[in-house]
Amino acid sequence: MPSDSLTLTDNRTGKTYELPITNGAIRAMDLRQVRTGPEDFGLLSYDPAFMNTASTISRITEIDGDRGILRYRGYPIEELAERSNYLEVAYLVLHGELPTLTEMDQWVYDITHHTWVHENLKKLMEGFHYDAHAMGMLVSGVGALSTFYPEAKNGGDPATRRLQVVRLIAKVPTLAAFAYRHNLGLPYNYPDNDLSYTGNFLNMLFKATEAKYQPNATLERALEVLFILHADHEQNCSTNAVRAVGSSQVDPYCAVAAGVAALYGPLHGGANEEVLRMLAEIGSKDRIPAFIKGVKDGNAKLMGFGHRVYKNYDPRAKIIKRMADEVFEVTRPSPLLPVALELERIALEDDYFVSRKLYPNVDFYSGLIYQAMGFPVEMFPVLFAIARTSGWLAQWQEMRADPEQKIARPRQLYLGSGQRAYREIGKREEAPGGR
Ligand code: SDX
Repeated sequence: MPSDSLTLTDNRTGKTYELPITNGAIRAMDLRQVRTGPEDFGLLSYDPAFMNTASTISRITEIDGDRGILRYRGYPIEELAERSNYLEVAYLVLHGELPTLTEMDQWVYDITHHTWVHENLKKLMEGFHYDAHAMGMLVSGVGALSTFYPEAKNGGDPATRRLQVVRLIAKVPTLAAFAYRHNLGLPYNYPDNDLSYTGNFLNMLFKATEAKYQPNATLERALEVLFILHADHEQNCSTNAVRAVGSSQVDPYCAVAAGVAALYGPLHGGANEEVLRMLAEIGSKDRIPAFIKGVKDGNAKLMGFGHRVYKNYDPRAKIIKRMADEVFEVTRPSPLLPVALELERIALEDDYFVSRKLYPNVDFYSGLIYQAMGFPVEMFPVLFAIARTSGWLAQWQEMRADPEQKIARPRQLYLGSGQRAYREIGKREEAPGGR
């Protein structure tokens, strides 16, 4: 009768070990018993970039990369995008259940009444160059929030944790809008509590001289769907950063600031900005073959394609692509859309991409929508960060409450120099031809 275990033989010693398999995994610590002698530290597993390492047990988001499945707390992303709204999804990922009417009313009230930031944060924003990247300003602004709420260090107290979660979900859009307005040299717009979460965000970004901003319903709904799609995505790079930094028991503002910093990278949340730059650089459909050749020659990446987990079409990309048409009806179709569609058509037929299972990911079409909505490319990853704040906090909460988690501190395989003696600078041989 096969048992849920792994039997391995260490050929260095001939010893055999039986390692239990639980939830499809062995415990890395069970490898430490595999030793060549009492002086041996024990076997480690070597896994750069965690290609095959589970760092946690989680119950928030499930992804099946081969089948293109994404579920938040068991609910398919397609249903949530169709029927829910962002604050309800934020509640779901954070609390594990969809809210009742009473719970939702209280949640919306709490978030709505925490959207203001301390006036001193405006001075922080004003310290940046006019053309500072909005993500750089957001990293700083989120980290700076920790200095206004010192009680957040008491992350062990559930009530304190909940208040910081509400503050972050409420204030990140405000900081994002301030960064946008700073870039344009425009006065800041304050939150309007009569509007929805996304409607208020549009208000803080785009309100001009009108007495009251009226968000376009189609764009407001499009932003809701985009935020839902970006809310969480299990143990991605930025979530790993939030969990690792948060494991030192620093306050959640600093942990989320680490997430914003990781998301800024062009291989992660910065990809939607790079997609627009790539499409603009290609410029027209007739120049796609030359670009594809450059990718195959290793001179460029097809930004917005590929994924560590999805080896099929990213389900979020499908939804965004369908939604693009609705947005373009009220804006103007992006002039780069034909280039994107042709690039996707060619890539999906080309064996170089098919063999590497490179399909459009969430970033391939989102930038076209953001551009059509009037956002500058530097704001694209900022929009991603606003939405992902609820996912980061859900993961942070889960990590803090997990009895198996402790401060994250990986091991290494040291292959550097052995011990050697210090020599005064005058007695060191110059390398041949200098350094
Ligand atoms: C996000 O993890 C998440 O869940 C992230 C995210 C989330 O919601 O949090 O889904 C959001 O970050 C989406 C990904 C956005 N990034 C991009 O679109 C940037 C372009 N894509 C890649 O750089 C890449 O695909 C990654 C980073 C997304 C994934 O990289 P992996 O899993 O480390 O794969 P890899 O780099 O080892 O690539 C495998 C092969 C390599 O070719 P060979 O060395 O075998 O010849 O595929 C090639 C890569 O060169 N490849 C690409 C490519 N992506 C991978 N070649 C051209 N263009 C690309 N986009």
